[in-house]
Amino acid sequence: MTPGGVFVAVVVLLAVSSGPCHAAMTQTYVKQLYSTLTCAARRAGDLVTLEDGSTLVFRATAGKGGSVWSRYISVGRHDDGPLDRMTIPNGCLTVDNLNCCDRHYRSEVLDFWPSDDIDTVRLGVYKNGVEVQFAEFNGTGSNYKNWMSKSRLLSSSWTDLKTNPNNFLSLEGDGQNSRWRRVFISRNYAGCAADRGWLVALSRWDECDWTKNIGPYPAFLFSRKSTHAVWNTKGDVDTADVLAVTIKFKHNPTFRPSA
Ligand SMILES: *[C@@H]1O[C@H](CO)[C@@H](O)[C@H](O)[C@H]1NC(C)=O
Repeated sequence: MTPGGVFVAVVVLLAVSSGPCHAAMTQTYVKQLYSTLTCAARRAGDLVTLEDGSTLVFRATAGKGGSVWSRYISVGRHDDGPLDRMTIPNGCLTVDNLNCCDRHYRSEVLDFWPSDDIDTVRLGVYKNGVEVQFAEFNGTGSNYKNWMSKSRLLSSSWTDLKTNPNNFLSLEGDGQNSRWRRVFISRNYAGCAADRGWLVALSRWDECDWTKNIGPYPAFLFSRKSTHAVWNTKGDVDTADVLAVTIKFKHNPTFRPSA
């Protein structure tokens, strides 16, 4: 049987087992072939394309355990291979699905990051299916770890993000002294009660109260305001359900969608 035959057979099987969390094969998605890749062994990637035309490359789910950062840098582990795509809950392939994703989705795109073809990289946090805050970065010439930086920041829903200083603005964030503050946009540390910032993915709590009692972890803490917040000020800070990284390719990328 051809690979195509297997594909069709699985679609039929999964289509009958539908439910709110049915597997992904019935999801519409665009199959794209990376013709720029010289490695003959590399197969066509089954990218997840969202409604706005962007491509989902990472999607962390609040409360599902594990470290967001460890998962992000797990080169070689991805959830968009043909076999993975048959079994993954389709909630993992959307950013607005609330309860149906049981993992942190990682695309193979992170392993080869075609930076010349990447226009923008968007970091978004979602609550109740809606994007509540975002920051967008220039992806051209970046690598998969360094696109999140102040010098690459293009726009954000937080109006003061461009003009304020930061002690952290990176994916790696602050991993010192048993802190697991990743995907961290921090303004400054001023003693736990006065620490200020915009966004953080916490894989566990640490010495500061503002990181505690918000689990299960990971917890995605963000300023609800249009500006940064004091983490300790409960009303100004909220937790998100999903943290997603999406990319927009340039209009004429050197790779081509398969026929
Ligand atoms: C993004 O970065 C590239 C490479 O440094 C640069 O040529 C381009 O002008 C930047 N785009 C924007 C919108 O700043």
